[in-house]
Amino acid sequence: MSRSVRLVPAVVALLALTATACDGGVHGTPGGSGVRDPYFPKAGNGGYDVGHYGLALDYTPATRRLTGTAVITARATQNLSAFDLDLAGLHVDAVTVEGRKARFNRAGQELTVRPHDDLRKGETFSTTVRYSGVPHTLTDPDGSKEGWLPTADGALGLGEPVGSMAWFPSDDHPFDKASYDITLTVPEGLQAVSNGELADQSTRGGRTAFHWHVAQPMATYLATVAVGRFGLIRGTGPHGLPILTAVDPTQAKASEKVLAQLPAVIKWEETNFGPYPFSSTGAIVDRPDDSGYALETQNRPVFPGAPDTGTLVHELAHQWYGDSVTPKSWQDMWLNEGFATYAEWLWWEDHGGESCRQTFMDYYNGKDKTIWAFPPAKPSSAAHISDGPVYQRGAMVLQKIREKVGDDTFYAIIQGWAAAHRHGSASTADFTAYVQKKVPHQDFSEIWKDWLYGDGKPARP
Ligand code: TRP
Ligand code: ZN
Repeated sequence: MSRSVRLVPAVVALLALTATACDGGVHGTPGGSGVRDPYFPKAGNGGYDVGHYGLALDYTPATRRLTGTAVITARATQNLSAFDLDLAGLHVDAVTVEGRKARFNRAGQELTVRPHDDLRKGETFSTTVRYSGVPHTLTDPDGSKEGWLPTADGALGLGEPVGSMAWFPSDDHPFDKASYDITLTVPEGLQAVSNGELADQSTRGGRTAFHWHVAQPMATYLATVAVGRFGLIRGTGPHGLPILTAVDPTQAKASEKVLAQLPAVIKWEETNFGPYPFSSTGAIVDRPDDSGYALETQNRPVFPGAPDTGTLVHELAHQWYGDSVTPKSWQDMWLNEGFATYAEWLWWEDHGGESCRQTFMDYYNGKDKTIWAFPPAKPSSAAHISDGPVYQRGAMVLQKIREKVGDDTFYAIIQGWAAAHRHGSASTADFTAYVQKKVPHQDFSEIWKDWLYGDGKPARP
């Protein structure tokens, strides 16, 4: 920059002063304890962007004790004197930044790290957190359980919306996606299943380590581990896509038929949504009481007992809508659930069930008035981000778009959307802008006003 060679003397003096006052010439400020999510203001942290999580975890179901080392590689997005990670419960034994011991402090879910030297904007730095303890089961604002869930024969780590912080320190917000290596060591005879692909497995001294590699960016809430007795079955889907299912033996018989549909579901979804976004797929089927809900954990959704076909279609559709194209904030949840619900409608339409128009009308005229409680793009509070308006009325937005543009353009929109934000994060405003740009000669403002943002039941279906 030519401007910098003509600094006036006062500025030069000021720069010299700052340089001597701070170690290494960098003067940082704290990164901040959240990213202003409208529903979860403390989720995520400011001042850096994570590129990779290296998690080495050791878990013993009998004592429920977890010991972990998290190596977090991140890039500073400002000069940093301190930064936060999200961690709920557990004991932090030590923190280092760039190999040097760092001071840290804990307050609620915020683990504040003060590196020995301030970090320079743009710098990539590595933070190691050693921690241990009995991880907590957290209760969502909507009352469901997440975080670390002990099960009959092991445990489940589930993270939507803010449960991952119960088992590893992170920038726990969907906006900051990263690649992962998760190594989980458990007593020999048990399995530890996670996202991505199994890179390595080794047994020593009565304990088995499972190393899972997740190459494509993943949001923290989509990370999972499942410890227990599982039957692991490998297969291949379309174009050689590796499939790995992990099924609790008590659920094996009930799961057999539905899991046999998995390759066909992926194939059908590729036809509708475009190329499958990850390097493997599958499912984890634990027992019905273990979680009480299914979750679209990346590569390998978790099911509480054998899923029905609709739920399998739903969680696999999330691999495109939610896992690959991830919401920028928790306000954008309908981009996940509206799409995954619409995938179920489409599946039935294509497989001898009722048409999407009919399903839409069933909801429009249905007895369940709760779907009109709030507009899909503006959930009434954090306790309601997974309510009917986000799911069913979210799907109704897509039906309205489809009816306006016709099938060819509609499929071009939903495939184009998945392609445009593949492995990224996107907001509702990004979506409406995308649709409008894709179909410039039509005006979608009525649909946005009545179906996406408007209060109450729209006057006309
Ligand atoms: N996303 C899950 C699904 O649709 C449902 C779910 C589980 C959820 N836990 C949640 C949604 C917490 C919001 C918040 O399959
Ligand atoms: Zn869903």
